[in-house]
Amino acid sequence: MNLAKASVKPVAADRLPELLRRMPKAELHIHIEGSLEPELIFALAARNGVQLPYASVEELRSAYAFSNLQSFLDIYYAGASVLLKEQDFYDMARAYLVRAAADNVVHTELFFDPQTHTARGVSMQTVIQGLHRACVDAQGELGISAALILCFLRHLSEEEAFETLEQALPFRDLLLGVGLDSGEVGNPPEKFARVFARCRELGFHLVAHAGEEGPPAYVWTALDLLKVERIDHGVQSSKDAALMQRLARDRIALTVCPLSNLKLCVFPDLASHNLRQLLDAGLVATVNSDDPAYFGGYMNDNFTQTFAATGLTAQHAYILARNSFEASFIDAAAKRMHIDRLNEFFEKFQ
Ligand code: ADE
Ligand code: ZN
Repeated sequence: MNLAKASVKPVAADRLPELLRRMPKAELHIHIEGSLEPELIFALAARNGVQLPYASVEELRSAYAFSNLQSFLDIYYAGASVLLKEQDFYDMARAYLVRAAADNVVHTELFFDPQTHTARGVSMQTVIQGLHRACVDAQGELGISAALILCFLRHLSEEEAFETLEQALPFRDLLLGVGLDSGEVGNPPEKFARVFARCRELGFHLVAHAGEEGPPAYVWTALDLLKVERIDHGVQSSKDAALMQRLARDRIALTVCPLSNLKLCVFPDLASHNLRQLLDAGLVATVNSDDPAYFGGYMNDNFTQTFAATGLTAQHAYILARNSFEASFIDAAAKRMHIDRLNEFFEKFQ
């Protein structure tokens, strides 16, 4: 879907935030551990007798000032240390799903980092069952569909990724796909080419973080060697014209996370973000929250703040929401149903 093909009625600037908040949308790039709010971190620490290196919620929150991806990851992995029991994983995912449903997210594909937990002695079963149970309950109680994408930590070895895959295989049916996250620079996609080839044989959907801080070359290798179906972030692609053409031609979606890019200093301010450039070049860009508890905003905050800063319009809002359904891994009938509802919403909005 490109801009020229979408005919959307103009919406007055003062009504745009309401349109953005109310429109149905899918979230395709959310690390569930990145949805752990400081209040829940403290509650789980108390419940599990875990000692935190921060005296209060306020002190923890005031540590959320990041200079780059690694400065964030250090705090993010420390925050996840309070997760021990199946109910902890359930409570974390439940809190996110309630929050997402309030933002009119109707479908979401959740990343989780099992190696962060198995390294502390928490079993794969504990992690996956807690998260899965929250997804099942959310469908019935909140009307939001949710599925799980297991991410390999790219700062760890290929061997550790293979071990993680082995531990996850008994729960194969509860997993939609696999991804690749953590520190990008120095850990190129090719390090995991064999793991991803195996996951492909097993029928997993494949995604990878690439071109967040790393160069366009990492986006190329994520596509050509890992054979991913979506690129997470991918904002550095705009530095490479041939790559932009490839992404547009093959309709490879980018799961862009504007507030994350702002907080991790990928762009100096939101007005400089290249989301508009990506859309204007015909790329299947989407808007997502990444780690909302750490970056100061869930889905609707990402939409409203980015639109306010960059002057995007109702037309762009429609394209972004539509892209989110088209780029999701739901089946064709579910995509059609969501897009029909989106069309109806835009027709009725006034
Ligand atoms: N893990 C959680 N958030 C991440 C991000 N923005 N990039 C890479 N790994 C992550
Ligand atoms: Zn991410």
